[in-house]
Amino acid sequence: MQSLTEMIIQRARFALLLFLFFTPLTWAEQFPNAAIASAHPLATLAGREMLDQGGNAFDAAIAVAGVLAVVEPYNSGLGGGGFFLLHRARDGRQVMLDAREKAPLAARSDMYLDQKGEPIAQASLAGPLAAAIPGLPAGLAHLAKRYGRLPLRQSLSAAIRLAEEGFPIDARYRAMAESQLMLLQSHSATAQQFLTEGTVPKIGELLKQPQLAVSLRMLAQQGSKGFYRGPVARAMVAAVRAQGGIWTQADLTRYQVKERAPIVFGYRGLRIVSAAPPSAGGLTLAGTLNILARYDLAQQSRAQQMHLVAEALRRAYHDRARYLGDADFVRIPTATLLSPAYAEQRAASIDLNNATLSASLDVASRVKQGDHTTHFSIVDRAGNRVAATLSINTLFGSGFVAGNTGVLLNNEMDDFAASEQAQNVYGLAGSRANRIAPGKRPLSSMSPTFVESQRGVLMLGTPGGSRIISMVLLAILGLEASPVPDVAALAGAPRFHHQYLPDRIEVEPDAFSAAVLDELALKGHVVHIAPGKWGNMQAVWIDRASGRAFAASDPRGAGGALAW
Ligand code: GLY
Repeated sequence: MQSLTEMIIQRARFALLLFLFFTPLTWAEQFPNAAIASAHPLATLAGREMLDQGGNAFDAAIAVAGVLAVVEPYNSGLGGGGFFLLHRARDGRQVMLDAREKAPLAARSDMYLDQKGEPIAQASLAGPLAAAIPGLPAGLAHLAKRYGRLPLRQSLSAAIRLAEEGFPIDARYRAMAESQLMLLQSHSATAQQFLTEGTVPKIGELLKQPQLAVSLRMLAQQGSKGFYRGPVARAMVAAVRAQGGIWTQADLTRYQVKERAPIVFGYRGLRIVSAAPPSAGGLTLAGTLNILARYDLAQQSRAQQMHLVAEALRRAYHDRARYLGDADFVRIPTATLLSPAYAEQRAASIDLNNATLSASLDVASRVKQGDHTTHFSIVDRAGNRVAATLSINTLFGSGFVAGNTGVLLNNEMDDFAASEQAQNVYGLAGSRANRIAPGKRPLSSMSPTFVESQRGVLMLGTPGGSRIISMVLLAILGLEASPVPDVAALAGAPRFHHQYLPDRIEVEPDAFSAAVLDELALKGHVVHIAPGKWGNMQAVWIDRASGRAFAASDPRGAGGALAW
């Protein structure tokens, strides 16, 4: 029998949970400073320029996204899409702006399969057939119109200037271009834009993209129709179709961004606001944290913490594979996935001493993670916030620059399941919910997130393919465990990952001691030290007590973090 005290505590917890759910954290007062963290210093400076010119965080987000499209063309751009998580200080409105790409209307569920039903190698990754209809330009126009204070002409001016006058090639650009050299050489417009006489430009050389500057200017002057109608649209459709793609003008004309309610849930006094479908981010984070809430992680050894986190991730990614897709096309059991009762049911099979076999949960993997996609976080002095994760999918997307537009197209079609058995480039298991359909958005892992508590607000996100969600998760757990939040430490913390299939814990090289990894192996985990770069987190911490904001860029990247 439940005692009276237990009953009171339980009701108080429930009341707190309701409060956390429905109350975004806002402050009436102005902040003494603003902050921006992005993956490139030139983008951060462009954002700052907008704030200095009287713009708000939303104008700054347009400037940052515009410049990233020029100086980090391998990660995001006009030919791609993404999610903007917004908090408007004036009324506390929190919304996810969904500028995710959409499948062309002529897309078919079997378009990447051969006659035997097997995926055709590279079909969903390279060339214009791999490209979904871009969402970023519509997202930027929507941000300016509904939330910004400045005209697009002003907020895109730095991007236009850098595309026209060029920006100096850095080591990162060289490394990315070298790794994708064959893809870049495979289409003449692409080679012309990103290479010098067919080879990777030297450090310090200016990379000019005059055709992209013209497309950016059309967007800046005419808004969405400057990209989705008129000469830019016509040139893109003609180039795509000439090389075997299936875009039509109707695809572009009909593209629309969507405002969606974010996924909101509580975890140990934190109110977490994250991306809704077609991102898997919010629901997978919730599934993992609802399971972890049942354990006192602070009392566990490092290896035991990792075991529990991996087991929780295994189950949440299993649900990702089973249930998640574009909610405009498939019914997602959101309420069930968010419920404590469901978490209890999923946690019941966790063995404290032994790894569960993913195969015993059931269903479908090859894994190649990458350092692509980009994220930035911005807060202005009024308290408006933007956390945005943008992408063209893998490095340099489809490798196809559409005609004379300078627009490099994405290969987000690979984020769909080519078949229920097929895995995508991240090794994520295929599912019916994420099959291709005309006009549908592919399931994503991009997870721009706010973590709100009485101590303050953490705004964060990162690239990293299917590991994005676990990277955000580890930062949330790090915040909860730290007596004094240190945003730089959260962005730089060691990383590990589990995604149900392949059935193994992936760990960052040199991040954990051999003793910890041995202990995990003894519990039955396959421990895989996964080479490569583990994300590029861009985070801002707004401290409630002082009202000050702090920004940090992941030490793994070469970003720009400013608080002023
Ligand atoms: N294109 C990677 C993702 O959206 O998850």
